[in-house]
Amino acid sequence: MGEKTLKFNSKTIHGGQQPDKAYGAVMPPIYQTSTYAQTTPGGHKGYEYSRSANPTRTALENSLASIENGTYGLAFASGLAAIDAVIKLLGPGDEVVSTNDLYGGSYRLFKQIFEKYGIKFNFVGMQDTDTIEAAITGNTKLIWVETPTNPMMNIIDIKAVAAVAKKHNVLLAVDNTFATPYLQTPLDLGADVVMHSATKYLGGHSDVVAGALVVKNKELADQLYFIQNASGAVCGPMDSFLILRGIKTLHVRMQRHCENGEAIARYLENHPKIEKVYWPGFESHPNHEVAKSQMNGYGGMISFVSKGSSYKEAIKIVERLKLFTLAESLGGVESLAGHPASMTHASIPKDEREKSGVVDALIRLSVGIEDKDDLIADLEQAIG
Ligand SMILES: Cc1ncc(COP(=O)(O)O)c(C=O)c1O
Repeated sequence: MGEKTLKFNSKTIHGGQQPDKAYGAVMPPIYQTSTYAQTTPGGHKGYEYSRSANPTRTALENSLASIENGTYGLAFASGLAAIDAVIKLLGPGDEVVSTNDLYGGSYRLFKQIFEKYGIKFNFVGMQDTDTIEAAITGNTKLIWVETPTNPMMNIIDIKAVAAVAKKHNVLLAVDNTFATPYLQTPLDLGADVVMHSATKYLGGHSDVVAGALVVKNKELADQLYFIQNASGAVCGPMDSFLILRGIKTLHVRMQRHCENGEAIARYLENHPKIEKVYWPGFESHPNHEVAKSQMNGYGGMISFVSKGSSYKEAIKIVERLKLFTLAESLGGVESLAGHPASMTHASIPKDEREKSGVVDALIRLSVGIEDKDDLIADLEQAIG
């Protein structure tokens, strides 16, 4: 059966994979080597130095390309290293239009690293394509989208933004960390680059930090491979193995994340002490129709604010949680709770983050795959 005809739930397991050439190992060995013997200068079997390429990383990169319906995958040392490689496609004077509601570390990389090198970032709300078009200038080279956004769960219409990008001849990159290809495949909707913090759902077990890019276009892939090798923030063989193993169960984990996410979103929505719940599956969510059309489900990420919007109350709730662990990160099998204003989004100035809704009282949940009744009981005792 041709690789391209496989359905998603088979691609996670078989996409881009072959038994290892040496002994037929079904899982690729962890090729823990920096270099490879050559019979004569240049006489090697496709690998010469592990920054440039490593067979375990190749197996992961092929899997990434397959699950995102792309052609070329690249695995990095972290999600931020993957974003760093994309921005290095640009030069001084170039501009980026980015969503204003995005992961704090991406914002920090843009503002505090790349602005120093003469790249300009325009942060705008992306619910309306007119706002995006108004921010595009003759120097704009890239549109940066995160959807669902972290932590406000806004949904951006990828197809509509892709049309704007094509019209102005700029690249469109989508951070697909929250949705994963189980829920949406941005390349199919017209994006040029898909990016992941593979640390999250792709790895899925909170045991590895890694990043990924997937593209379809050969020229773009070559430029990114050049940057990956020249800058060197590659995914190591052990980490590549762990992400690859995680991807094999992505579909079953995501199914459960979605089921538990829905149960918890609806529980919180009906709770008398909860003021507001952000989850794209609600019909009342302002971008619900877009979510419904571009996603296959609504995921396990939820943010909420308790009545009275008190910072103190939010801190008390996250401290009281027992089954939900108070921790950075998301997307693992275990449920996590976070306080974006003081954790993931602390690097965004208060007035900037409050403009997009990241108030001091906001709590973010990464709903895991435990029994949903236990998770609800934990929230019940913590909210009181
Ligand atoms: C949406 C999103 N993008 C990018 C990143 C950065 O990835 P990493 O922590 O793997 O560098 C994160 C990390 O939390 C994230 O949530």
